[in-house]
Parts: sequence; structure tokens; C-alpha cells
Amino acid sequence: MKFALVCGAGGFIGGHLVKRLKQDGFWVRGVDLKFHEYSETHADDFVVGDLRDQGFCRAIVDRRFDEVYQLAADMGGAGYIFTGEHDADVMHNSATINLNVLDACHKRGVKKIFYSSSACIYPAYNQEDPHNPKCSEDSAYPAAPDSEYGWEKLFSERLYMAYRRNYGMQTHIARYHNIFGPEGTWTGGREKAPAAVCRKVAMASSGEEIEVWGDGQQTRSFLYIDECIEGTVRLLRSNFVGPVNIGSEEMVTINQLVDQVADIAGKRIGKKHVPGPQGVRGRNSDNRFISEKLGWRPSRSLRAGLEPTYQWIAAQAASITIATRRVA
Ligand code: NAD
Ligand code: GDD
Repeated sequence: MKFALVCGAGGFIGGHLVKRLKQDGFWVRGVDLKFHEYSETHADDFVVGDLRDQGFCRAIVDRRFDEVYQLAADMGGAGYIFTGEHDADVMHNSATINLNVLDACHKRGVKKIFYSSSACIYPAYNQEDPHNPKCSEDSAYPAAPDSEYGWEKLFSERLYMAYRRNYGMQTHIARYHNIFGPEGTWTGGREKAPAAVCRKVAMASSGEEIEVWGDGQQTRSFLYIDECIEGTVRLLRSNFVGPVNIGSEEMVTINQLVDQVADIAGKRIGKKHVPGPQGVRGRNSDNRFISEKLGWRPSRSLRAGLEPTYQWIAAQAASITIATRRVA
């Protein structure tokens, strides 16, 4: 029997990862501040607690886990990380979690640990042209992330690399590019563009407009959750440590994202462009490095991922609407 620890198991990616690790035959401990909001955990043991607490971290890393995945973070989409209102919390909370989890693993003799960094570490100056952003792994320095969230991720990448150099730990680092899918945050202020757009389209009638932040010409690529999980476990089980992009290379404008979702919903949807937090003007994954090192790269189309995501979010939105009507 192999043992895995998933920090952030009550979150979107962590919840899916636990399912995958169970399929792979692991005994899994999940840890989070909260239970998963949208599904029962598949973990053998789920501990609710605060990874900012060093004593708690040492207690949950009570064995030499074969695989540790560190996904816990104070995070969200543009509406959460680009307003500036949460900068202190984001930096303090996520850095403290990373310091504690990594050191607890080191003290217990854990060797293999995965760290979820972000495309937000890439310099803003390479992402000003929406048609030609540069996000190759070797372009991270000179560093100039566009958010404090990105700076914390860069600091923590360096922390994981330092433990590798000084203590011989096998720390594997991925830079995720905007991951989406069912059972992700879709409302409340932390949701990212794919979930926000699915929610807005689901709640609109055909012929209505939905609000889009900015002119909608900003570009992104979005990776479906199953491929994120596949890339994550492949990276940790390889001899390649990264940092490496795990993302899609199918870059679209936010306006195109809206059009695809409207098409899936079978609705005619107009766009009302409004001011809002926007982040970089363009971003796309560069998958040459992962392809070279792992012999694998994501291949699922955006459309194929948006279909199940839209259906799941539309069902969530409908159940809330029905519940609200019953209360009224
Ligand atoms: P998420 O918010 O759904 O999951 C993160 C989980 O961490 C949450 O369940 C949260 O409760 C937990 N957490 C936060 N503070 C904690 C604490 N003090 N103690 C214990 N648990 C705590 O986010 P996600 O989308 O699943 O992202 C997972 C990781 O991947 C994060 O580190 C995130 O920064 C990174 N990432 C995600 C994306 C993306 O598009 N989803 C992109 C780049 C990087
Ligand atoms: N969230 C959201 N909601 N974004 C919108 C909306 C909306 O209603 N309308 C337009 N957008 C635009 C944003 O202004 C932004 O320019 C773009 O859609 C993408 O926004 P997000 O998906 O929220 O975030 P991001 O791509 O800038 O950053 C995300 O991805 C990173 C990794 O690539 C975040 O989730 C980061 O935390 C993550 O690390």
C-alpha cells in the first residue's frame, strides 16, 4: 500500500486529485480548512485544520508519505487577486502554509512533494500583446509578476528549490494555467473566467446581455481539470522536477470564451463590457518543455471541457434558484 497526502483536498483541484489517487490504489489523507463544498471526499482520512499552524502541519505529516501534493493556498480569479484588497492575506496565508508544509515533510523524511505554482509568476512585461504573450519557463526572470499572488508563488517556488538543493528532497513544481471544470468555485467572488461566464450564461435568457470585464479582447488559455490531474501525477512520478507549465495552448479571447459557452447553452447572448479587474492582457501556456521532458502534453479542446463544466454549473445555478423560490 502506498500513502499520499493532499493539502487543499477540500478545494477544486485537490478534490479531483484525491479521486485519482484512490483510483491509483493509494491510501489518501486529505487536509483542508473545510470539507469539499460540492462532493463527498473520497479520502480515507480527511482532517479539517489550518496549515498555517506549524504544530498542526507536523501532526498531519505523521509518516513518510510516498507522495505529498501541496495545493492549499489563499487564491481566486481576477476578481480576488487583482483588486489589491486581499494582498496581505494572500501573501501571508499562502507563504505560511508553504513554509510549514515543506518543513514538516522535511522533518518526517518525506522525499517526493509536488508544489502548485502558477502562470501568474511570469513577468507582466511579456504579456502585454494579447496575440503574442511569452510564457516559456525560462522567461520567469527578471521577475515582474503582475500581482502579489504571483510574487508569493515565485517566492515559494524558490523555497521548494532550496529544500531540494540543501536537503535532497524531490520537490516537483508545476505552473498551472487557469484550470477549470466541474466542482470548481463558480460563485462568491473567487471564481475564474470560465466558471463566471458559465454562471452568467446559465442565469441569462436567450437574447439577454451578460457583463464582461474589460473589452473582452484580453486572451487566456484554459486547461480542463482531468488534464491538470494527469500532468500533475505524471510530473511527481517522473525524475523531472520543473518548474514546468501545465496548461493549454489553445489561446482564446474572453469574448470567444463567452461565444463558445453561449453556443453550448444554445442561447443568443450579448456582451456588455464593463470595468473590472483584468490582470495581464494576454497569456498562453508554452508546452514545449513539458512535451520534451515528460513526452506528454494536454490535448483536450476547450470546447470539450466547457461542455461538462457548463452542464454542472447550470445545474448548480438551477438548484439555487429553485431553493430561493421555495424559501420565498
Ligand atoms: P481552491 O481554492 O479550490 O483550493 C485551495 C484549498 O486550499 C481550499 O479548499 C482552501 O480551503 C484550502 N486552504 C486555504 N488556506 C488553507 C489553510 N490555511 N489550511 C488548510 N487549507 C487551506 O483552489 P484550486 O483551484 O484547487 O487551486 C489549487 C492550487 O493550485 C492553489 O495553490 C492554487 O494557487 C494553484 N493554482 C490554481 C490555478 C487554477 O486555475 N485553479 C491556477 C494556478 C495555480
Ligand atoms: N473572473 C472573471 N469573472 N473574469 C472575467 C470576467 C468575470 O466575470 N469577465 C471578464 N473576465 C476577464 C478578467 O478580467 C481577466 O482579464 C480574464 O477574464 C481572466 O480572468 P480569471 O480567469 O479570473 O483570472 P486570470 O486568468 O487572470 O488568472 C487566473 O489564472 C491564473 C493561472 O493562469 C487566476 O485563477 C490565478 O489565480 C491563476 O494563478
